[in-house]
Amino acid sequence: MKALVLSGGSGTRLRPFSYSMPKQLIPVVNKPVLEHVLDNITALGVTDIGIIVGERADEIRDALGDGAQLGARLTYIHQDAPLGLAHCVRLARTFLGDDDFIMYLGDNMLPGGIKDIAARFTAERPAAQVVVHQVPDPRAFGVAELAADDDTVVRLVEKPEHPGSDLALIGVYLFTPAIHEAVAAIEPSPRGELEITDAIQWLVTHGAEVKAARYTGYWKDTGRAQDVLECNRRLLAELTTHIAGDVDATSELIGPVVIGTGARIVRSRITGPVVIGAGTLIEDSHIGPDTSIGDNCVLRASRLVDSIVMNGASIVQIPGLTGSLIGRAATIGPSDHDQAHHRLVVGDHTHVEVAA
Ligand code: DAU
Repeated sequence: MKALVLSGGSGTRLRPFSYSMPKQLIPVVNKPVLEHVLDNITALGVTDIGIIVGERADEIRDALGDGAQLGARLTYIHQDAPLGLAHCVRLARTFLGDDDFIMYLGDNMLPGGIKDIAARFTAERPAAQVVVHQVPDPRAFGVAELAADDDTVVRLVEKPEHPGSDLALIGVYLFTPAIHEAVAAIEPSPRGELEITDAIQWLVTHGAEVKAARYTGYWKDTGRAQDVLECNRRLLAELTTHIAGDVDATSELIGPVVIGTGARIVRSRITGPVVIGAGTLIEDSHIGPDTSIGDNCVLRASRLVDSIVMNGASIVQIPGLTGSLIGRAATIGPSDHDQAHHRLVVGDHTHVEVAA
């Protein structure tokens, strides 16, 4: 079996981050979402992985290389424009050959893994197997309707206004080569994309067997900032303590805390779960719970809760940050000359909430 990971697209809902980095590289517990995805795939013993990349291809290549460090062999497949998930399958035709494959959306987090789901596909080998998850309002997703046997798919609709069920399609699909005829046959949807949902519906309409596996664990499409923070909290809840950096005698660590190599904790309190990256300095601060701080950051005289701070950021004299997502090399601190006013240099689509 091969794998196809989709990491193109534009990620407009994750602005401003998606201006400067592909959304699939946003860190959750200090590891890019895309690495979490690849871990779930290699855990199946699948190592031959094609990655669809778009305009941010270079950054994804820089982050993942040839995949050897992750125990995978990566083949990058370039997509000029985000023309849809089924378009990605068309582009990957040569790479996929006549193998069965797992298609995995590079922004979907399933921390529980997908071993059972993949094992079921291998055992039953329907033409296609989708993965569904019950949600209160599935209108933002593909929606599956199942037969009375509760696992044969009878209808699939992409982002329906009036959903026929509460079963959202998760971004993990298992296919036999039967999908290639389907993706070749469909036309673009009203939003101008070749929808994988339509291709799978084409299989259903043409009498192929399409099954649905239910995933009951935690799942998040990390499309928006609040989803990334929620996912971070969720994964931090599983953290186990590991201290590689230095903690001075006046600092206090409470609960599960990970401190990276070369990080220094000085006169501070860390209330886990918290992960602190390599080379980061935390001084006179109170961090946590539910916080991830990347590599080579500086936090001084600050209080930070329920947040993600990316590599190289610095936060100085900010006593009450919560629910925040701070980008790479961002600096937040007091004004040099004017103590009476706030001074902001914020990029397009940045979101700032200031305590009144
Ligand atoms: O997250 C689950 C949902 O993912 C499913 O319920 C939907 O049926 C499915 O269509 C998809 O919907 P989204 O609108 O959330 O897909 P999005 O455009 O966010 O793309 C998903 C991933 O695929 C993302 O990592 C970007 C990548 N992608 C997307 C497109 C359209 C590509 O690599 N190329 C593309 O052309």
